[in-house]
Amino acid sequence: MSKKPRLGVNIDHVATLRQARGETYPSIVDAANISLSNGADQITIHLREDRRHIQDTDVEAVRLVTRKYGKPLNLEMGCNQEIIDIALATNPDWVCLVPENRQERTTEGGLNLIDDKVRKKVQKTCEAIKEKLPETKISLFLEANITVLEHAVKMPIEAVEIHTGDYAKAHLNGEDFSSYLSEFKSAEQFLKENETACHAGHGLTFESLSPLLDLKLFEEYNVGHWVICQAIFDGLGSVVSKLNEQFEGSNL
Ligand code: PXP
Repeated sequence: MSKKPRLGVNIDHVATLRQARGETYPSIVDAANISLSNGADQITIHLREDRRHIQDTDVEAVRLVTRKYGKPLNLEMGCNQEIIDIALATNPDWVCLVPENRQERTTEGGLNLIDDKVRKKVQKTCEAIKEKLPETKISLFLEANITVLEHAVKMPIEAVEIHTGDYAKAHLNGEDFSSYLSEFKSAEQFLKENETACHAGHGLTFESLSPLLDLKLFEEYNVGHWVICQAIFDGLGSVVSKLNEQFEGSNL
């Protein structure tokens, strides 16, 4: 029987809004609850070295919510010892290792496993996680490049998350995106042959998800920024209307 692909909702940007004002709202716990009670199969958060959105205490708070729903927490992180220690203490269901650069606006691409130094660091991080948390599954955020994937499948991982950011941008700009679909197909085939699950994420929107879902390319998608942006417009009218009702009930 065919199964629906898993929907991972990345709630980092709820924390971006909270951190922008240094307030306690919007609540990341509410965001996780609402996502899971509306069909999300997993919550994804990225604890960055610079703590620009998700904070250390959020990790355990979101962990408690995912446990309540019996759904996985996917913790994205760089290969940084301080963050590895937090992951080891939190025991997430999944860890997704990503490259991290303090100057970047968001993760800009997959881990460059062709570089010896990067590859050794990733291998060491995977081994450290597997030693302490043998039940935690690991995915690596990578480009759909067979040379990179050949290195990946030699590591102790369960999945690769293919970087869809450039594809999504091409889709958004109305450019020809067919070459990305061919690369994704080859990557998925290669990973299947090597018994490694194939996930996808970055920059995806309702529209750019469509061709990927039609082609049944990936078993899991992690979608964040667009979900939170779209949620603003799905909710703004209702909030303004509620405020207006309050105003109408009050006379000068
Ligand atoms: N997957 C990975 C590995 C990411 O780093 C991110 C961004 O944190 C996402 C998925 C979600 O990307 P977006 O917020 O653009 O949907």
